[in-house]
Amino acid sequence: MNHDVQYGTAVASVYDSLIAPAMPTEEAVERLRPYVTGARVLEIGVGTGRVALPVARLARGLIGVDNSKAMLDELRGKNPPAHVALVEADFRRPLPFTEPFEAAYSTMGSLACVHSREELVTALTHICDVLKPGGSLSLEYYATGAYRPLVEQHTLTVPMPHHGGTSTFTVTLDDADVLTMHTRLDESGKPPVEFSEQVLLIERKEVEACLAEAGFAVERVHPAEGPAPYDWYTARSDH
Ligand SMILES: C[S@@+](CC[C@H](N)C(=O)[O-])C[C@H]1O[C@@H](n2cnc3c(N)ncnc32)[C@H](O)[C@@H]1O
Repeated sequence: MNHDVQYGTAVASVYDSLIAPAMPTEEAVERLRPYVTGARVLEIGVGTGRVALPVARLARGLIGVDNSKAMLDELRGKNPPAHVALVEADFRRPLPFTEPFEAAYSTMGSLACVHSREELVTALTHICDVLKPGGSLSLEYYATGAYRPLVEQHTLTVPMPHHGGTSTFTVTLDDADVLTMHTRLDESGKPPVEFSEQVLLIERKEVEACLAEAGFAVERVHPAEGPAPYDWYTARSDH
């Protein structure tokens, strides 16, 4: 198994200034509110805390897991409140918790950072293992309707919404359904920042099948609207 870390210092250095502003948190927090309010909550792939910090205002406790020290350091720099704890761990391995959670969530497709359906089922099983029976999992996962056209296009340059520069995406999909997205951010007067992400791009029915195989009952799916990048799944631990 490959335990590489995808999000290094280059991504971490621009995540909050250039990437997060394009992804407002309000809708995600509203969707999470019924599950996380007053609960002991786990975020998988917490990153720089874009969603974790507003969710922490609702939760009794929140543990954020990420395998990128650089991303966690950005979040630590924001002095999260005392009921937030951060753990450097890889979700492809069993999660290091003994006290079960009432709710778990993962936004912006963190759980898609796997190389196969089997690896996704393994990661989901690790989450199921640390949830109380009936505990909830809310999941944003890459929408094929948004990403398959990008594969066709191969390269796309768009203006960055909150800066004068541009983002150039180069997107490929291999035979194992692993999508590689290379991003180059150009801000005038600054050296470009480049990084690559690899995610498993599978159809909604397959994500649902992986959830079921891992021990979740899927309660609801909000398909991405138009070109929106992620579908949203709500599931409950079945045991
Ligand atoms: C797109 S970012 C999303 C961050 C945050 N959830 C948000 O919505 O802003 C994906 C995050 O997943 C983390 N990640 C990717 N693979 C991981 C793994 N195997 N174990 C733990 N975290 C992982 C990355 O380090 C990164 O911080």
